[in-house]
Amino acid sequence: MLNNEELLRQQVKEEVLAKEKTVKNDPYRLSFHLMPPAGLLNDPNGLVHWRGEYHVFYQWMPFKTGHGEKFWGHYITEDFVKWRHERLALTPSEWFDKDGCYSGSAVIVEDQLYLFYTGNVIQDNGKQEEYQCLAISEDGIHFHKQGPVLSIPDGFQIADFRDPKVWKKDGTWYMVVGGKTDKEEGKVLLFKSESLKEWDFLGPIAGSYENGLKDFGYMWECPDMFTLDGQDILIVSPQGLEADGMDFANTYQSGYFAGELNEQNAVFTHGSFKELDRGFEFYAPQTFRDEKDRRILIGWMGVPDQFEQAHPTVQNHWIHALTIPRELKWNGRQIIQEPLSELETMREAVLLHSEISIENDQNAVRGISGRPVELRVEVEELNDQFAIEFFHYVSLSYTKNDSILTLSRPHLEDKTKTEFRRVKLDNGLRSLRIFIDTSSLEIFVNDGEETFTSRIYPDTEDPDILFTSLGKTVFSVEQWRITGYQMEAIGDA
Ligand code: FRU
Repeated sequence: MLNNEELLRQQVKEEVLAKEKTVKNDPYRLSFHLMPPAGLLNDPNGLVHWRGEYHVFYQWMPFKTGHGEKFWGHYITEDFVKWRHERLALTPSEWFDKDGCYSGSAVIVEDQLYLFYTGNVIQDNGKQEEYQCLAISEDGIHFHKQGPVLSIPDGFQIADFRDPKVWKKDGTWYMVVGGKTDKEEGKVLLFKSESLKEWDFLGPIAGSYENGLKDFGYMWECPDMFTLDGQDILIVSPQGLEADGMDFANTYQSGYFAGELNEQNAVFTHGSFKELDRGFEFYAPQTFRDEKDRRILIGWMGVPDQFEQAHPTVQNHWIHALTIPRELKWNGRQIIQEPLSELETMREAVLLHSEISIENDQNAVRGISGRPVELRVEVEELNDQFAIEFFHYVSLSYTKNDSILTLSRPHLEDKTKTEFRRVKLDNGLRSLRIFIDTSSLEIFVNDGEETFTSRIYPDTEDPDILFTSLGKTVFSVEQWRITGYQMEAIGDA
């Protein structure tokens, strides 16, 4: 007799095999991004660099393109270019995680890999409960579940208590967990531990009605606390913020607070919330420090409850992807996000390197068929405004007099409408670095001061990138074809 876990693994294997052909033949399948073999992917989980290999786990619903009882899928790489899809890491098989092995993080303890994750449980009466659980591995492939390791403090709702992120400081382990109070206020809770198997609650360190904030959402998901160049940073994904001018335009947001954390008193003194990304699809990012001492971020190229079923890949039984990895730096005022340097090894021949000068006109850079490409644009001279239109689908435009950069695309659900995302660039626009994949766009503005991450669904035969200008604009443009990215599947689920 197969046990519950073996049964689930078997079912996933069969599901992936049954859908494999349709998924692979989807013209919108990406060429340099991590995707689910079939079904739905959401948050990156358990990011860690261990024994020379990078592990990227992810929230995976293999059976449909909607959410539900999540598994932890698993990718491994040494160089961020060649990836192996590994054996399923966690399956929702036990009483404490039977309705989903939800998001969490990884740490290395005496050369073993510890995964902390949320076990999601829906009781027979429909009540939801969430537990912070531990699973341990000797080889980074097979994980042994240890069950729940901490209890929920009073005043918080057990239905919304999730996404543990663990780190070590001065010999003590700390954990932040996302939560919701009985009064529907989103918070981040801090715990500490010596053993990793028992945890003490220190207090809420941030959230609605904490530290000078007023109402700032009813639930805070996926907290991530770390130090970047001496600055303590809390990245978090709050739910329940109202759109406000150019800000908070997506259904849910991801951003950060910078400040100083005092673990002993559970006090995090911080400045204002800054959104990490300005595009249509970005949520639940997670960071980790690698053996080269870099702080690397990977996000989910999707947003929950935001027209998810309108993504056309759904017809071919898969949905969503992770972003490219980004290195984080602190420039004294804010986080800077740069594409990880390893990605430059994917550049093939230079397709184009030239100056483009346009005055009240347009200039098509044709023949860029066969995406994916990386594009670097320096703005050498600008009188008024310009736009770059990609594949007659999505447009990025900038107006000098108000310093506003706008990304627009046909509304995912209601094609008669156009949707916009915008940001004001206080110091103007100098440069753009753009990663274009078959159905995604990641734009790094001014070397990473702002980013726009979005899925795009143009006619895949349309090769054109069009530059247009009102007044005179001079660009210096470099473009590389991207090749060499590999994803190898290990059959054993
Ligand atoms: C964020 C999130 C997490 C949760 C996971 C479930 O997208 O809702 O809070 O752990 O996804 O898949």
